Amino acid sequence: MSGGVIAIDGPSASGKSSTARAVAETLGFAHLDSGSLYRGVTLVALREGARRGLRGAAAVADLSPEVILRSAEDRGLMLQSDGAGFAAYLEGEPAEDALRSADVTANVSAVAAIPVVREWVNTRLRAMVRAGQDVVVDGRDIGTVVFPDADLKIFLTASPEARAGRRISQRGIAVVPEHLDAETQALAARDHADSTREVAPLRAAPDAVHLDTTRMDFSEQVRFIVDRARPIFFPE
Ligand code: CDP
Repeated sequence: MSGGVIAIDGPSASGKSSTARAVAETLGFAHLDSGSLYRGVTLVALREGARRGLRGAAAVADLSPEVILRSAEDRGLMLQSDGAGFAAYLEGEPAEDALRSADVTANVSAVAAIPVVREWVNTRLRAMVRAGQDVVVDGRDIGTVVFPDADLKIFLTASPEARAGRRISQRGIAVVPEHLDAETQALAARDHADSTREVAPLRAAPDAVHLDTTRMDFSEQVRFIVDRARPIFFPE
């Protein structure tokens, strides 16, 4: 029997991953961060490129998707239970820190636009649900492409400035105007790439519940989703 699915989509730094993790913990579901698999494939492409003398964007442009995905399999890229949830592992080690590097962030949108890469990621996400796991999955196309029949779909947004401010605070540095401007521009560029690409662009599913978190604190946004999920998954 397939597991239940809560799909949370939205732009970068809208708080999807942290919200999805907290919702999953509250409901006893597993959290699957699809972005960490796209970041994992990007990290593999960069490492494979470096081995062949290609750096950064050149690695992504010059390696074929087949070579990148074969290397991802050989290096054991997977979402693995770490006790509290599922995290990306590479070469047998948790890869979280490496996945958040500036190099991976700068190249991930290009890798995520490759159709066979998307199929590779989607196959792994669907297999976990088919195995009966109840999940909260966050990404860009979860409610539209990966799980169009999800039990609950949320589209999470926040103003560009609020998102940029959160991203900077996450790094533990001061939120001063010049950082805010630079981060707002970097997020806008990634939003644009994600929303205008041909395959699985970022957009809300017609049946998604929209949640603007610009003026919400974290516990409020988690409660909003949990309150909608309970009657669906745990009817009285
Ligand atoms: O944490 P942040 O929102 O910045 O990004 P992420 O969720 O880690 O995803 C990184 C990148 O992967 C995004 O900018 C998208 O290009 C891509 N992605 C995607 O195309 N589809 C998904 N379902 C998830 C991520």
